[in-house]
Amino acid sequence: MPAPKSLMAPAEKWWRHAVIYQIYPRSFADGNGDGIGDIPGIINRLPHIAGLGIDAIWVSPFYTSPQKDAGYDVADFCDIDPIFGTLADAEKLIDTAHELGLRIIVDIVPNHSSSQHEWFQQALAAPPGSPERARYMFREGRGENAELPPNNWESVFGGSAWTRVTEKDGSAGQWYLHLFDSSQPDFNWENLEVWEFFRGVLRFWLDRGVDGFRVDVAHGLVKLEGLPDAVATDQPAVGNVGPQWNQPGVHEIYRDWRKVLDEYGDDRVMCAEAWVFPLSDMARYVRSDEMDQAFNFAYMATKWDANALRRVIVESLEAFDSVGAPSTWVLSNHDVVRHASRYGIDATTKAQPTGFGPTSAHKPDEVWGLAVARAATTVMLALPGSAYLYQGEELGLPEVIGIPDNKRQDPTFFRTSGERYGRDGCRVPIPWVKDATAFGFNDSGKTWLPQPSSFGPLSRDQQEGTEGSTLELYKKLLALRSSLRLGTGAVEWLPGYGDSIVAFTNCGIAVIANAGDAEVALPDGELLISSAPLSGHSLPPNTTAWVKLAD
Ligand code: NOJ
Repeated sequence: MPAPKSLMAPAEKWWRHAVIYQIYPRSFADGNGDGIGDIPGIINRLPHIAGLGIDAIWVSPFYTSPQKDAGYDVADFCDIDPIFGTLADAEKLIDTAHELGLRIIVDIVPNHSSSQHEWFQQALAAPPGSPERARYMFREGRGENAELPPNNWESVFGGSAWTRVTEKDGSAGQWYLHLFDSSQPDFNWENLEVWEFFRGVLRFWLDRGVDGFRVDVAHGLVKLEGLPDAVATDQPAVGNVGPQWNQPGVHEIYRDWRKVLDEYGDDRVMCAEAWVFPLSDMARYVRSDEMDQAFNFAYMATKWDANALRRVIVESLEAFDSVGAPSTWVLSNHDVVRHASRYGIDATTKAQPTGFGPTSAHKPDEVWGLAVARAATTVMLALPGSAYLYQGEELGLPEVIGIPDNKRQDPTFFRTSGERYGRDGCRVPIPWVKDATAFGFNDSGKTWLPQPSSFGPLSRDQQEGTEGSTLELYKKLLALRSSLRLGTGAVEWLPGYGDSIVAFTNCGIAVIANAGDAEVALPDGELLISSAPLSGHSLPPNTTAWVKLAD
């Protein structure tokens, strides 16, 4: 069913300047009290999110799944896992979003399936060389008895990217590739059956009215021919380094998908999750006959450093502009440390942490982190293009550090024997009501990850209507961004500011961000908003302001 009229025929494509809010269903709102968020919970709470002033939601996977990787291990791409609800619930969610004036993007996970997917089960039951095995990446092992994996590739979650199967006769058999957990076998995208299958999945959801797809691991589907060993590197396994990532062949897939989306009109969108650097390489995913957007991870990875910020903004605008695409901007998602904590780590700490836990060497300074996070968001929402928000960032939620080891769920934690804490800390169920069971996440009190007591004062009901709260800051920023049409404008750098200041104009608004350690005078004009209270017309450190310039 098509989107309602009110959503159609915008002067320019809606996604070029949209603010898109990520819902992570497990942790958003739990309708049935089993401790895991679900679709009825989302439907119930969606009006709050629409009230933020966003344009669309992106919903992380809700498909049938054994949940080994929180739903990114899909056993049936065209049905809903009972923990999240039913297909009828999903259809209702799509309709509810549209009635609220929101577009809805769903996740598609084409690099791998769950090992419980019927195709993989058939592959395990079939002999080497069979058409069933040809849908996945099965290979013979190396070594005298094929006891070594076919190559040295590592799983993104730690350990080898290969697992050996036991053949039907009980003998040790072939190996299959999984760039992620062993429960997530990689599809073989050289097999046209896989292409046809995913065209069907796209149409299945488009027929139900979704406005687009966030494409998981978009840079991983095609592997370098021959699957050669990766050259050892001290870089994390995610990225465009190595024969398993960013192969030119992936673009053919998205050109094919573009045609499928275009069967449904000209406003369905695809957004690439492609950890590809530099940005000029990432921009190849959004050429006019491929996808529409790509998550700007280079921007997300940039520290609160004015020179670095200016550089990444320029690079982003140039790279995406060169292919006629808008830039996106993002600071948090379900895979990274929440930005309110990330910015609280001493800027001189080299490594971006892969999660925090009780024994982590560096602990974020949460007061500092939140101040910078608010300032950083105030920069982000003034930039032209499309911005992504992650549930809970509008409450200023920090990463949860104190999750006990025996409650952790991320396969990263287990595959690295606890060396990397992984992503659970950004996935804790979000707080709605301070004085309610599970902070209003449900009414049973069960939560799949424990909520810290520090979530209480950050609950939505405490921030709603509270002057100076992070929630009110987001609402006001979003309202101004929309009324001033900042998403459609252009960045022009303002001269005369020192090295530690990011200063630009967009649509007649000066945006000044102070990443230094001294106050800076604001330009003449009307102060529209600031990420922290100001005294007078000057900007303290770790603060951003928008000023309507005097004529
Ligand atoms: C990226 C997703 O965002 C992440 O959560 C998931 O674990 C991997 N892809 C594998 O699907």
